[in-house]
Amino acid sequence: MFTQVELEQKIKSFPYWYHKIDLPFGITTPGWAPLNKDMYRIPSDLSGKRVLDIGSWDGFWSFEALKRGAREVVAIDDFSDYLGKLENKDRSAWDTFDLCRSALGYSPDKCKRHELTVYDLKEEELGIFDIVFFFGTLYHLRYPLLALDKISAICKESIFVESAILDDFSPYRGGFNKGYPGSQMVMELYPDKQYGNNETNWWAPTVLCLMGLLHTAGFKNVKGWKLMDNPTSLAYCRGFACGTK
Ligand SMILES: C[S@@+](CC[C@H](N)C(=O)[O-])C[C@H]1O[C@@H](n2cnc3c(N)ncnc32)[C@H](O)[C@@H]1O
Repeated sequence: MFTQVELEQKIKSFPYWYHKIDLPFGITTPGWAPLNKDMYRIPSDLSGKRVLDIGSWDGFWSFEALKRGAREVVAIDDFSDYLGKLENKDRSAWDTFDLCRSALGYSPDKCKRHELTVYDLKEEELGIFDIVFFFGTLYHLRYPLLALDKISAICKESIFVESAILDDFSPYRGGFNKGYPGSQMVMELYPDKQYGNNETNWWAPTVLCLMGLLHTAGFKNVKGWKLMDNPTSLAYCRGFACGTK
């Protein structure tokens, strides 16, 4: 366990934090995500659930699942997202995750982590999950449907997906409030850095299209919503979908 001073020093030793994570001593890591966790509408009680957190970065959602009673969490990340601007040396791989896991007192058995791409998810290796969190990652993938098929094969209860969406913003249509309003079935491709000046952003769907992607991967009772109306920055042009098996 850390003293307050040790924990503060360790947090400061990392040049970049993506997540703001509440730790002991009233300390919060100096990231900016998530902007509003309540908009994700994740069940407050995850008691007994086995949860997979895909693209976990510093681990906010892994720890959130455990705080909500999850029996076990498995976090995976392949560290391919650098926000289009971070230096490799500033992307601290699992070090920030490990620091928070340790500060929060979760054992590596209860809170596992694997360096793995979503495409390599296999029941033989990681088993089956009740709940899958797939936040902020779909639009970074060249093959989003393949990823959803892989997830569907190891998910037995519910999937929750958060993504960049096009309803209120399209780089091809003139920016903010010039997207595809009113439930249009659209997905845009970004061969270069068209979306957010980040070459790791490949696709963005409308909310309706995001729901369609989940449907084709075998999820039922699919629901979707925008995280915010009339967004004025890209960070707020986000949507959510969930479905059950
Ligand atoms: C924008 S961050 C989202 C972090 C977190 N899930 C959240 O929503 O707050 C995207 C994360 O997905 C990871 N990622 C990107 N492609 C991936 C892949 N193919 N498999 C696993 N993780 C991936 C990135 O390295 C990064 O940590």
